[in-house]
Amino acid sequence: MKGRWDAAIEDAMLKVKNNIVKFPGKLPHIADGQRYEWGDNDDWIEGFYIGLMWLAYEYSGEIFYKEAAQNYLTNFKDRLDRHVALDHHDIGFLYSLSSVAQWQVTGSTEAREVALQAADRLLARWRPAIGIIQAWGKEDDADNGGRMIIDCLLNLPLLFWAYEQTGDSRYYDVAFRHALKSQKFLVRGDGSSYHTFYFDTATGHALRGGTHQGYEDGSTWTRGQSWGIYGFALAYRYTKHAPFLDTSKRLARYFIEHLPEDHVAYWDFDVPIENGTPRDSSASAIASCGLLELLELTGADDPDRPLFESALQNSMESLVERYSTMDAAEAEGLLKHGSYHVLGDRAPDDYMIWGDYYYMEALVRMQRGLKGYW
Ligand code: GLY
Repeated sequence: MKGRWDAAIEDAMLKVKNNIVKFPGKLPHIADGQRYEWGDNDDWIEGFYIGLMWLAYEYSGEIFYKEAAQNYLTNFKDRLDRHVALDHHDIGFLYSLSSVAQWQVTGSTEAREVALQAADRLLARWRPAIGIIQAWGKEDDADNGGRMIIDCLLNLPLLFWAYEQTGDSRYYDVAFRHALKSQKFLVRGDGSSYHTFYFDTATGHALRGGTHQGYEDGSTWTRGQSWGIYGFALAYRYTKHAPFLDTSKRLARYFIEHLPEDHVAYWDFDVPIENGTPRDSSASAIASCGLLELLELTGADDPDRPLFESALQNSMESLVERYSTMDAAEAEGLLKHGSYHVLGDRAPDDYMIWGDYYYMEALVRMQRGLKGYW
């Protein structure tokens, strides 16, 4: 498989390069009909494209990718300065993969400064009376004021990074406490998860679990589960708080045990499976990155290792062989059959730029030990 994985990386890099050339200065939005919508920096997903460029640069050493990624720094800085569409917690996704990545790869002090400003913006979403980072909307938002979502675990590394850079413990404390709250309320006893959870904004009391993109409130949305696997593993990497590692492993076991025969997740673990039920290849790509992190964090004698190793192998083989666009030279995306919001009828079966990013992250980590920018 090694040769095949190298070929998959080469193919992915070529597609990233083609997109850079074809859509100069633009950023991919949610896809429609196997085409990304190319636009401005005003959604939650633009960082993934920049992260792909950094991975391609680190893997190949080709200056082309580095220059392309660096050229977007002003754009990301400007977004912060003008506060464009930043009333959400996905500031971590956006800035870990753009400015933190640039700082990590090149040592750019300008990029470091932008990333620290982004961390401050994320910190401002901390709601001390509840003990959460508010996911969406303004503080007084009637529906979302007291709402946390499992996806936020991937926004926490920006805060942990800011703590390491500055020594300011507020970043660490907020990230740590949000992860604790997520563990308590988003993860269920059997290792499944809620997508979101509501709290009373006045009292901070826990109200109920719910979903946004899943099948129903009590179901397990597969991408949420994969955010949890990787997110808790990362929280453990930064804090060494052992229960985070245990939680990541429980979520991983649930994910693996509920996969279909071809090892790539449907969009929700509780949705009735019929002909044509959409997959979410992006959930499997994210989970693969989570498994790679878990394999690095667990000892050689850990009883879960054989399960995690075989699941990683099966998932990545299936993604490369059945879901990648290696057979379609003109494709804009790297992975077919991701789903964004099935019941909302938004890209229920299409490319997902984050699926592309995590697929590439997993491949370059397996082949070269290169990590992502979390
Ligand atoms: N973080 C939003 C999503 O996974 O769709």
